[in-house]
Amino acid sequence: MDEGMNKMIKVSNLYHSYSNDDNYAVKDVSFEIEKGEIFGFLGPSGAGKSTTQNILVGLLQLQQGQVEVAGYDVKHIKNKMFNKIGMSFEQSNVYNKMSGLENLEFYRKLFDVETKDPMDLIKLVGLEGKENIKAGKYSKGMKHRLTFARSMINNPEMWFLDEPTTGLDPAIASEIKDIIKREKEKGVTIFLTTHNMYIADELCDRVAFIVDGTIRLIDSPKALKLKYGEKLVDVEYFKDGELIKDSFSTVIKEEKERLVEVISKYDIQTMHTKEATLEEIFIKVTGRGLV
Ligand SMILES: Nc1ncnc2c1ncn2[C@@H]1O[C@H](COP(=O)(O)OP(=O)(O)OP(=O)(O)O)[C@@H](O)[C@H]1O
Ligand SMILES: [Mg+2]
Repeated sequence: MDEGMNKMIKVSNLYHSYSNDDNYAVKDVSFEIEKGEIFGFLGPSGAGKSTTQNILVGLLQLQQGQVEVAGYDVKHIKNKMFNKIGMSFEQSNVYNKMSGLENLEFYRKLFDVETKDPMDLIKLVGLEGKENIKAGKYSKGMKHRLTFARSMINNPEMWFLDEPTTGLDPAIASEIKDIIKREKEKGVTIFLTTHNMYIADELCDRVAFIVDGTIRLIDSPKALKLKYGEKLVDVEYFKDGELIKDSFSTVIKEEKERLVEVISKYDIQTMHTKEATLEEIFIKVTGRGLV
């Protein structure tokens, strides 16, 4: 089998300028996404995440570089591509004059593939009982959920999610995360853009760090934490009836020996390895924060 067949997304040397000059919002970006993978685009505001996503889904004209989505070259987009992809945007663009349910009914007709039952989707995102209210009367979070539900209606193989949980209350955000995980289990490939490192850490198989339109690094959250983690063990133990808190490096020889000594001699209360968070790693690698 051709190796390329396992790739749902292939992007190489992508550039985009909104001013059509050498002022680039996206600059020499290259990455590939495997079928079934959740790939996170992580970066601060203005990094170029939405710009990249918009080019991939055909909302922005490809200016420079090669982009293939689900086997289609986005330079010459075929309508068939839209049957295979789903997209949920940062800004909800639902029809305010239609109810939530009507929005979904309307949208499903745009596809010529099997679609999901709109009412099932309404329930899935917790809008049951609100389905007949005009979307214009929905709160921001409700609109966001409707947009999210709509992005699933054509059973997309390739799902684009821009900030899927931003602005949602924690309970709903957690449900959205569960839905994303379940779709991944079904083999859906997901491109997720966010500046929320917790979401990225929890959901993504691999993340790309993007700053000023450029990808600085691509790796799995786990590998990054191993590579950039402090490799410290925090220990609490009793010595002569007194609780002592101490930290030991697991890479410095003397500290390792001291750790072994403490463990063998004293009554250990707690012991934790310290992991770097993705945000700390992001700052280390890019010299920038995520907000
Ligand atoms: N329609 C537009 N016209 C002109 N410039 C734009 C437009 N959209 C985005 N930009 C600029 O392009 C750069 C990248 O913006 P983009 O929206 O891709 O960032 P982002 O990573 O999605 O940020 P956020 O986290 O705030 O959503 C920014 O400098 C932004 O000001
Ligand atoms: Mg954005």
